[in-house]
Amino acid sequence: MNETKITNNKAIKIAVSNQKGGVGKTTTVMNLGTALAVKNRRALLVDCDPQHHLSNWLGFESDGKPTTSDVIFNTVTNQHINYANCIRHNKDEHIDYIPSTNVLAGMLSVIAADNNSSNVISRIFDNEYFNQKYDYIIFDCQPALDLLVTNILKACDKLIIPVQADLLSYDGVEQMIETFMRVKNDTDIRKYLIGMLVTMYQTNTKHSATIYNALKESYGDLVFNSYISFRTETKNSVGFHRSSVSDLKSVVGAQYIEIANKIMEVCENG
Ligand SMILES: Nc1ncnc2c1ncn2[C@@H]1O[C@H](COP(=O)(O)OP(=O)(O)OP(=O)(O)O)[C@@H](O)[C@H]1O
Ligand SMILES: [Mg+2]
Repeated sequence: MNETKITNNKAIKIAVSNQKGGVGKTTTVMNLGTALAVKNRRALLVDCDPQHHLSNWLGFESDGKPTTSDVIFNTVTNQHINYANCIRHNKDEHIDYIPSTNVLAGMLSVIAADNNSSNVISRIFDNEYFNQKYDYIIFDCQPALDLLVTNILKACDKLIIPVQADLLSYDGVEQMIETFMRVKNDTDIRKYLIGMLVTMYQTNTKHSATIYNALKESYGDLVFNSYISFRTETKNSVGFHRSSVSDLKSVVGAQYIEIANKIMEVCENG
């Protein structure tokens, strides 16, 4: 990976969020992160889900060093934190990440006790250390709209909402956007939302096309022009601790690279 930052000044923080479970958030974080790394962008992935699926995927094993929970706890309690010590590196995917454990579930009450409880994640990631080291910081959110997720939404510059090509997933999108705008205290979603990304699209049924077209009709260019296909190889990639992007034959990997290109276009050219 290049040692120089591509983006000027601050790291661009992207939340991948949808309060619905199982819509492809973690898969999107893993593959966009690795796609950005392939494009020589310095990317940090932050596992903000107590289910820690992203950390498992990246092969994290407990090592006694700080995880997302420790960073949050030390920030709220005003204790020193060595950020470099929190970052792990996955050599196969050339990607940095901060892992999470199930302890993160207990951090909600810690955040709630903070005097400025909506800005805890902002305070951590506005730090010079992260801004100087990374072009992109991508947050994998848990399927909720609780205080931890709203903290991430407040801290982020940009938002990606994965939407599974499935009717039930579509239902939550409006609430997701409403919550996001309330957190940002803004009405212009276009400033933030890079796109809704339709995931697990199946060409052998009419269903996926119906959902994609309905989303396009409601939200127009706020929906990415391309979708992510459902592929068994992507489902299995978790067990191999690899991204689809690193599999040069993967259709899904190529699709995520296309989405990463769009993200770079939006974030780096204004
Ligand atoms: N393009 C795809 N093709 C096939 N399977 C996929 C694809 N994307 C995701 N999956 C599978 O769908 C399941 C849910 O995906 P993922 O874990 O990324 O969703 P999530 O939104 O992060 O879930 P949660 O809300 O629990 O955090 C996983 O088993 C994953 O491997
Ligand atoms: Mg997940």
